[in-house]
Amino acid sequence: MSNAEQIEYWNGAAGETWARMQARMDKALTPVTAALLSAAAPAPGEDVLDIGCGSGETTLALAAAVGDDGCATGVDISEPLLARARERAAELLLDIDFELADAATLVDPIGFDLLVSRFGVMFFADPVAAFGNLHNLAVPGGRLCFACWQQPTENTWATLPIDALAGLIPVDPRYDPHAPGPFAFADPDRVRAILGTAGWQDVALQPVTFTMVMGEGDDPVGNAVHFALRIGPAARSVREAGPDAEARARVLLADAFAAHVDGDTVGLPAAVWLVTAHRPA
Ligand SMILES: C[S@@+](CC[C@H](N)C(=O)[O-])C[C@H]1O[C@@H](n2cnc3c(N)ncnc32)[C@H](O)[C@@H]1O
Repeated sequence: MSNAEQIEYWNGAAGETWARMQARMDKALTPVTAALLSAAAPAPGEDVLDIGCGSGETTLALAAAVGDDGCATGVDISEPLLARARERAAELLLDIDFELADAATLVDPIGFDLLVSRFGVMFFADPVAAFGNLHNLAVPGGRLCFACWQQPTENTWATLPIDALAGLIPVDPRYDPHAPGPFAFADPDRVRAILGTAGWQDVALQPVTFTMVMGEGDDPVGNAVHFALRIGPAARSVREAGPDAEARARVLLADAFAAHVDGDTVGLPAAVWLVTAHRPA
């Protein structure tokens, strides 16, 4: 099995949209980034790899943490997202290596002290093989720290748009909760089994909950509809259903979000696992 399907997906409309929505996404995910960096604890002088770095928010933060004596590298399969990451590093005059590569097969002769990911490790076709390769990329004693989504039932930001569009977008009867995708690592036992088989030790999962700001400003509902039609599982389904579906989806989503307005925001429950492990010394 290869990651070809994901490479096609993240280099198509999804990657372009994520790149355009970078600032908005990073703002919505601020609580995750803070918790992830705190758990990862990058230290000055360390060599760090950001897996599935996307448009580089966490790589930029890691580069700042490791300083001039350390090195932060971002790896991703998406050209459009890497282009945005490189643009941001250039704006900040930072010399960061953003590499177009599949993390499942990446080779590095030196090795990393720390491997980090914000939602970039749930898309591997063969997760055991991929985490085995990541294990080989870590120096002995090297740490792994990543954020992944908990079950959809704990993530209303993802299920509310899907439920609102139930009449418009058919539910896929072949749905496989373990298939590569945002919720592939929701089951803690599965995560422990994959990482343990791949050689990682002391696998621990810490729950983090937060409110995902879907919409804000003068028109928080309209803003949330805009967001949901671009990012998340519902966005993918609407995109694949064609342009006529989008107009109807707008109405259905606006109705659903209207019930969740609080002042000038629409916020919905979100829950992630912070997963930590290390390579035996
Ligand atoms: C949900 S996005 C998260 C991006 C970024 N980490 C963030 O938090 O904004 C998932 C990312 O993982 C990347 N990705 C998926 N499979 C990958 C693989 N096998 N190797 C490297 N990157 C991968 C995608 O291209 C995408 O940028």
